[in-house]
Amino acid sequence: MGVVIMIDPKNIRWDELTFSLTPTRTMFITTCKADGEWKSVPLQPFGNISLSPAACVLNYGQGLFEGLKMHSHKDGKTFTIFRPQENAARLAYGCERLCMPPVPKELFMEAVTAVAKDNKDFTPPYNPNSASQGSLYIRPTVWGTAPLLGVAPSPEYTFMVFCSPVGPYFKTGFKPIKLKMLKEYHRSAPGCTGGVKAIGNYAGGMLPAKKAKAEGYQEVLYLDAVESRYIEEVGAANFFCIKGNRLITPALGGSILPGITRKSLLQLAKDRLGMVVEERKISFEEVFDSDEAFATGTAAVISPIGLINYEGKDHIFSKGEVGMLTRKLYDMLLGIQHGLEPDLYGWLHKIE
Ligand code: PLP
Ligand code: COI
Repeated sequence: MGVVIMIDPKNIRWDELTFSLTPTRTMFITTCKADGEWKSVPLQPFGNISLSPAACVLNYGQGLFEGLKMHSHKDGKTFTIFRPQENAARLAYGCERLCMPPVPKELFMEAVTAVAKDNKDFTPPYNPNSASQGSLYIRPTVWGTAPLLGVAPSPEYTFMVFCSPVGPYFKTGFKPIKLKMLKEYHRSAPGCTGGVKAIGNYAGGMLPAKKAKAEGYQEVLYLDAVESRYIEEVGAANFFCIKGNRLITPALGGSILPGITRKSLLQLAKDRLGMVVEERKISFEEVFDSDEAFATGTAAVISPIGLINYEGKDHIFSKGEVGMLTRKLYDMLLGIQHGLEPDLYGWLHKIE
């Protein structure tokens, strides 16, 4: 394994960042026995780690990850992470689902805060004119790392947090994306692990995404695995559509990830825009009849959907442009994250 070279943050071209890894200064890494306790440790330089080829996570996928973002504010001095307590709770819940010892909320917050603080200078500066939506992406993981041959929970676990400056998830930035809706592939099913950020949920989407990209689409829009009729998610992002004053998103039923951006937008749309918000089943026929559509996620932020192709037919939203309410929600969310709007709900975790 090669040595990881850290780039001096002064040499990073912030406007050219994509959603890809730029190694930073430090990471957090601690271990815990299956029946033991997670311990706080000092940060260490970001670098490669060593694992047994028989590690449970590598062979059986016993692992979870999280994604958070730190944003810089206009004053150039304030840095805030968006709703990290929500990620802490989701990670702990996911640990239970995958038979891993939950990382305590306090340790999660300590590790995320320490990594963010020590790598603060890797956070892209606030730039209202940049389409890059730059931020410091923070990636916690929990893996079963002990070697074992039989399929069983690992006797030992590793909790890691690293980070990377990133640009837009979709290369087009805040421009409408084109999706391919498929019925022959599904992301998850009732009773499976779609409702947690299990690492094993993601490899299965690579082939459908590759096929969709080869045809000129940015992502796949997944339907439910039972009837192939109701919308689930957009790759690694939640789905929303708007009809009149109603904001509609698929209800969480265990196969859809409870997105933190999703939860935040439901609240903002209701409280600040006076929209009627609905969490329920949405058939693809209903979606085709809606006015606006978009995908949400920490990485994807709010990505407007301009077109959905299904069985060879294109369905276009907002004339293929960014819808008015989608833009309002985007401005509001980014406004809060970058400190341009008041943090009325206490969503921002300040890094001193
Ligand atoms: N759905 C999936 C499958 C995801 O991986 C993500 C990314 O985290 C989301 C939705 C959006 O969740 P959040 O808004 O918490 O980032
Ligand atoms: C996120 O939005 O944080 C994600 O996890 C999406 C992706 C990079 C898997």
